[in-house]
Amino acid sequence: MAVKISPYGTAPDGTKCSLYTLVNAQGVKAVLTDFGAILVALEVPDRKGAAADITLGYDTLEGWVKDSSYFGATVGRCGNRIAKAKFTLDGKEYVLAANDGENHLHGGVKGFNKVVWKAKPVTTPGARGVEFSYLSKDGEEGYPGNLACTVTYMLTDAGELSISYGATTDKATPINLTHHSYFNLAGQGAGDVLGHELMLAADRYTPVDAGLIPTGELAPVKGTPMDFTTATAIGARIDQVPGGYDHNYVLTSGGGKLSLAARVYEPTSGRVMEISTTEPGIQFYSGNFLNGSVVGKGGKRYQKHYGFCLETQHFPDAPNKPAFPSVILRPGERYTHVTVHKFSTR
Ligand code: GLA
Repeated sequence: MAVKISPYGTAPDGTKCSLYTLVNAQGVKAVLTDFGAILVALEVPDRKGAAADITLGYDTLEGWVKDSSYFGATVGRCGNRIAKAKFTLDGKEYVLAANDGENHLHGGVKGFNKVVWKAKPVTTPGARGVEFSYLSKDGEEGYPGNLACTVTYMLTDAGELSISYGATTDKATPINLTHHSYFNLAGQGAGDVLGHELMLAADRYTPVDAGLIPTGELAPVKGTPMDFTTATAIGARIDQVPGGYDHNYVLTSGGGKLSLAARVYEPTSGRVMEISTTEPGIQFYSGNFLNGSVVGKGGKRYQKHYGFCLETQHFPDAPNKPAFPSVILRPGERYTHVTVHKFSTR
């Protein structure tokens, strides 16, 4: 089935935005918009074949424009936090927007989730999708270099939603693109996600300070409430984690080749989501800052822990942590990142 395009209102800069609807052979439906290259909705059948939208979000473009939770977002230029909103690269200090206390978070005040991307529908045998492209100008949010980025979402007939990123630059710059959907495999607004069973293919994580900046240590998860090496309910030990889960896990794969990073199972619906990625890290965030103030799709009010995020990425604050895998992209090089979400039931 081809990509269906429909109007979705006007962005604050006056650009007309659209919705792009993808449907696969099993009735999985993904809805995207060129505003922020956002995943607007994702309908997936449960074990009885009944579809539900499993991502948190909004009914209208205005919701995404005002959003401060990063629902469904493509996050960039650097996802996650950069300490004190600055870094030094090749001897020069760069100052970024401080939008999370003194730190820089998810690309700054106007990150990649708040700009309008160019969209091009793509169809291949057994898959359909949209390639979004955006030119981030030299100096945008404090980052160096003109960065030409693409984010391509493809929905396959094998039940996979893949997100492939590419970028090139004309000056050395950090880059760490990620996807920020909040999932609830029982359906968006259906309650908290504490009963979801999570497996993470990671035996270490990066402990953080009070501002959620990694200390630099790679700590073993074994014997701690951080251990998800075997499937465990998200809520089983969450009360032992101050503030809830909001941590980067060090994937055992080490990154570089597409490897299984996470599996989530929701017992009442039977839905399973498996995430594979080429990235070395994954941020597990248990929706700790949701507090019922956001009214989302269908008038649902999102309370604490009503969604979880699994953000495939390089480690937070990598520009200031020489021991972490590098996030620096140089002219002549190409940034790539592939993450695949595979849906099934049991
Ligand atoms: C990420 C961060 C969280 C929070 C959310 C957005 O997952 O790690 O601390 O900022 O984004 O609310």
